[in-house]
Amino acid sequence: MEIRATSEDADLSDATLIVGVLAENQPAPGAEDALAQAHPTLLELAKFEGKTGQVLTLPHSVAKAVVFVGLGEEAGFESIRAGTGNAVRAVKTTRAVTNLNQIGVDGAVRAVVEGAALGGYQFREYKTEGEPLALQTLELIEGDEEAMGETLITTDATNLARDWVNTPALDKAPEELARRIEEAATEAGLAVEVWDELRIVDEKLGALLGVAAGSDRPPRLVIIEHTPDEPAAHLGLVGKGITFDSGGLSIKTAQYMEEMKDDMSGAAVVTAATIAIARLGLPIGVTTVVPLTDNAVGGNATRPGDVLRPVAGPTIEVLNTDAEGRLILADGLGIVRRYEPDMIVDVATLTGAAHVALGDKVAAVFASDEEVASSILLAASRAGEHFWELPLFEDYKKAMESDIADLKNISGGRYGGAITAALFLSSYVDDAKWAHLDIAGPARSRETSGEHVKGASGVGVRTLVELARSMTPPS
Ligand code: BES
Ligand code: MN
Ligand code: ZN
Repeated sequence: MEIRATSEDADLSDATLIVGVLAENQPAPGAEDALAQAHPTLLELAKFEGKTGQVLTLPHSVAKAVVFVGLGEEAGFESIRAGTGNAVRAVKTTRAVTNLNQIGVDGAVRAVVEGAALGGYQFREYKTEGEPLALQTLELIEGDEEAMGETLITTDATNLARDWVNTPALDKAPEELARRIEEAATEAGLAVEVWDELRIVDEKLGALLGVAAGSDRPPRLVIIEHTPDEPAAHLGLVGKGITFDSGGLSIKTAQYMEEMKDDMSGAAVVTAATIAIARLGLPIGVTTVVPLTDNAVGGNATRPGDVLRPVAGPTIEVLNTDAEGRLILADGLGIVRRYEPDMIVDVATLTGAAHVALGDKVAAVFASDEEVASSILLAASRAGEHFWELPLFEDYKKAMESDIADLKNISGGRYGGAITAALFLSSYVDDAKWAHLDIAGPARSRETSGEHVKGASGVGVRTLVELARSMTPPS
């Protein structure tokens, strides 16, 4: 969908007009005329009352049709974003015009663009039939072009991450995913290095190799760098890139394996965020490290009880091969630390426990100190993504002690699994400023609603971009 600005007197004869309606069918600013023309009986028959989440399409005299978007009691950033998402899917014409961006809410332009670009997302790569979205062009009346352009950079990046995650594991072997990542990052002007298996062996990334051992598809490690002149700060990113998580020899049951093509979401998210940061020209240095591998069950697969040596930090007794994300992250963290960033953030679909704790819509954040935690939470709230802090409760670290190695990769119990996983990672960051984002729950949207589309969510991209923004000194 193309999203652009238009003027107050845009021709509406072939377009759908999208306007906002408040609770009890009070017109939002700019909806007065359209609402006055709609017959009250029609609204009643459609049970339309301006409630959040409602949309109603009616024929109209000034425009080809009008989509009324319920905004609830008071229009706000989130209701405009969600309403726009619902509206763009309801439009039946190729062109639509809206004034939702003029409602007088902080960030309304961004809300409209995010709603449209994210809510209008479709993954049709593998569909031979079915209807693509009718809407092709959305025009924002008097839309601020700079705000629109900036927002489109992050929504494009979010949708790029969604594309990669939605792609079947068959078509994103580590080699192929590395190629796609390299292509996209290079196009954004970033420097990219891809380590093949030989290089990974040379560099002694024993934990990544241990996970990769069970697959016929060799691992890769991608390093992406954004190096602006005189960077104001330096951010290090690491993303979990398990291209399919079968569990390894500690194999998953069929039900739990169904969605495991998602297990490279962290890699997709940090890469897409880096691309957006570069496109926005933010004066923050970024080094992004993405270890990519299957977790499979071939004859050479790592066995429970085997000990792995990551590039730096404690040796690991692997007691459950399904706790593989923390293994490849140990190596990823070891590599990113060589670049001595001011802050490290890793993103991973790491634990079912985080999903159990916070559900489908909230991601967990762990941080080395309160300042880091607040910077992530603030960035998330600015981005309109939902994160909640969980504690790095040191007492639980004892549960990760191994009899024969420095650490084991599971705690032995079911409880507090998101925390023990985070504590495990903390052993590979030493005293660096660090945050760990466990997106196992919200990496996938379970339903289409508002700006969310069933399938990969891209959660984390916009929070990381806001984080980089917050590290940028005011000009
Ligand atoms: N990739 C999974 C975690 C996951 C679960 C992501 C559900 C998305 C949705 C991870 O590698 C895993 O298998 N974790 C285990 C760890 C356990 C063996 C300690 C888990 O959470 O069950
Ligand atoms: Mn696993
Ligand atoms: Zn996994």
